[in-house]
Amino acid sequence: MSPERPPEDSQSPAGAPAPGGGAPHRRRFRDRRPEEYPHPDLNPYLKLHREMGRPVVTAEEAPRWRGRWREAFARPAPLHVEVGPGNGFYLAGMAGLRPDLDWLGVEIRFKRVVLCARKILAAGVDNALIARYDAWFLDDLFAPGEIAGLHVNFPDPWKKDRHEKKRLLGPAFAAWAARAMAPGAAMRVKTDHAPNLDRLVAALAGLPLAVEARVADVARHGVPWEDDVVTNYQTKFDRRGEPVHALLIRRLPGPAPARPGSSGE
Ligand SMILES: C[S@@+](CC[C@H](N)C(=O)[O-])C[C@H]1O[C@@H](n2cnc3c(N)ncnc32)[C@H](O)[C@@H]1O
Repeated sequence: MSPERPPEDSQSPAGAPAPGGGAPHRRRFRDRRPEEYPHPDLNPYLKLHREMGRPVVTAEEAPRWRGRWREAFARPAPLHVEVGPGNGFYLAGMAGLRPDLDWLGVEIRFKRVVLCARKILAAGVDNALIARYDAWFLDDLFAPGEIAGLHVNFPDPWKKDRHEKKRLLGPAFAAWAARAMAPGAAMRVKTDHAPNLDRLVAALAGLPLAVEARVADVARHGVPWEDDVVTNYQTKFDRRGEPVHALLIRRLPGPAPARPGSSGE
C-alpha cells in the first residue's frame, strides 16, 4: 500500500483500548471526511460509500442511532450485529434467512462497506444495514442491552506475539459485549485460529457471559446453532481443508462492567 493512499482502516488499532479494558490510547474513533485525506481519489470507495445512501450508514451518522437502531430499521425487531462482515455474504444471507430480525454490520474498510451494501441490495432484503465504524469503539453505537444477537466471523487473527494488542477478541471486547448484549442474547464466533477463542474465553471471567458450546471442526461436527451461512473466509479455509472453530457464548442475567470513562448508564 502506498503511504499516501487513504488508509482503509484509518486509526485502528493504534487507538485500540489497552488489553484488559484499560484506558484507550485514543478515546474516540475520529471519522475523517474525504477532504481531510491528502489524496482522497486514490481510494474510490472512500467517497462512494458516502454517496450510496441506504443500506450504508456512515461513521458520522452511526452513533446518532445509539439506543434507537429500531428507528433506523423503521420497525421494532430484535437487533443482531455482525462485527467485521467483510464482503457481506453472512450478513445478507442471514438477513434473508431471518427476516424477523434486524441485521447490522459494522465494518471499518471503505471497500468492504460498499461490497457489503451491494450484497444487501442484491439479496433484496430490507432488514439489513451496514455501518462504517471501528469495532474498537462499539460503545459509541449501542446502548446497554440493545443487542439481541452478536456475530463475529473470522476476525483478523494477528498471529504474531507482537500483535497481541491488535487482537479484537479479548478483555475490552468481552466487557463491551457484556454491556451491549441483552440477558439471554447469544454471541456466535467462527474462526480458523483457535487461540482467538481461547483468548476470548479467558476474558469472560467475572463477566455475565458463559460458554455454551464449542466445536473444533465445523465441517465435521457442524455449528452449535441453527441458521448458519458460510462466510467468504470460511470458504477459503474449507477449500484448503483447514478446520474452522465455532464458539457460542450466552449473556447471563446480571450487571455488566461500566463503560470505561463513564459514571454508569
Ligand atoms: C478476516 S476478514 C473476515 C470477513 C468476513 N467476516 C468473513 O468471514 O468472510 C475480517 C474483517 O474484519 C474487518 N475489521 C478488522 N478490524 C476491524 C475494526 N476495527 N472494525 C471493524 N471491522 C474490522 C476487516 O476489514 C475484515 O472485513
